[in-house]
Amino acid sequence: MPGKFGTPTDPDYALRLAEFEARIARGEKIEPGDWMPEEYRRQLVRMISQHAHSEVVGMLPEGAWITRAPSLKRKMILIAKVQDEAGHGQYLYHAAETLGISREEMLEALLSGRAKYSSIFNYPTLTWADIGTIGWLVDGAAIKNQTMLAQCSYGPYSRAMVRICAEETFHHKQGKEMVIAYAKGTPKQRQMAQDAINRWWWPALMMLGPHDADSPNSEVLIRWGVKTKSNDTVRQEFINEHAPEILATGLSLPDPELHQDPQGNWRHGPINWEEFWSVVGGNGPMNKERLEARRRAHTEGAWVREALEAYAAKKSPIPMAV
Ligand SMILES: [Fe+2]
Ligand SMILES: [Fe+2]
Repeated sequence: MPGKFGTPTDPDYALRLAEFEARIARGEKIEPGDWMPEEYRRQLVRMISQHAHSEVVGMLPEGAWITRAPSLKRKMILIAKVQDEAGHGQYLYHAAETLGISREEMLEALLSGRAKYSSIFNYPTLTWADIGTIGWLVDGAAIKNQTMLAQCSYGPYSRAMVRICAEETFHHKQGKEMVIAYAKGTPKQRQMAQDAINRWWWPALMMLGPHDADSPNSEVLIRWGVKTKSNDTVRQEFINEHAPEILATGLSLPDPELHQDPQGNWRHGPINWEEFWSVVGGNGPMNKERLEARRRAHTEGAWVREALEAYAAKKSPIPMAV
């Protein structure tokens, strides 16, 4: 649909932009095919594709533990969770495709290392307690962000988020249940849960993004209703819910400066942003392994894509020449 992505050099840009912003202010959703600024499209493609990549790469640290789950129940839960994440990737790639980018372009960006995905998935899962901790903290942080994005002004992204959040809630609950069980378990289980919380707490705070003052895209994203809350606001909501719940289990948090202020907000000590940017820049503990695993899966899955194409061609309504 040519012309639907406006740029400031278009003669009617100011008028169209005013109409677009008025629609957002009225709470209307922007749908594929509607006029939108090219910058809105670009920001959404960046965010949705990064989000899709995060769902798919996020399957790796947990998938590695499916064969080592300690019981059938835990194994079934983990298999269901990892499958859900694949589904989330699917919804999100579809949502991004409505903005005129192809699946192949997005995958090429991921596999070539150009695209980003959530920094958190570049940390290793060292023990079984990491699986519960990821559910509680990582899915917990994701829900805070995704509940906000379910209000997003772009229809397909917002609707994908509503479905995804319903499943994330299950991921969060199963993780919380597991960590609470180990916190009440044997000294060894308790120590394992504490070690996992110690390692995942700071990366979970970091995954909600840089402080507002260092988040260059935030202003335009908030103005156009893509984000409705800033990174620091979402992080505060996450800490306010999770810090007291974790402390209530008798486990501790690895932040000596953590305290509740008179307004009831839990305040954290300084975040190591150097570590965050190093991981985002490709130098986290598992960046290379994660990308290699994705590339290998893509190559080994080539036959599936070929088979699907052959099947689609066979079912094509176009009559074959005889
Ligand atoms: Fe997910
Ligand atoms: Fe999840």
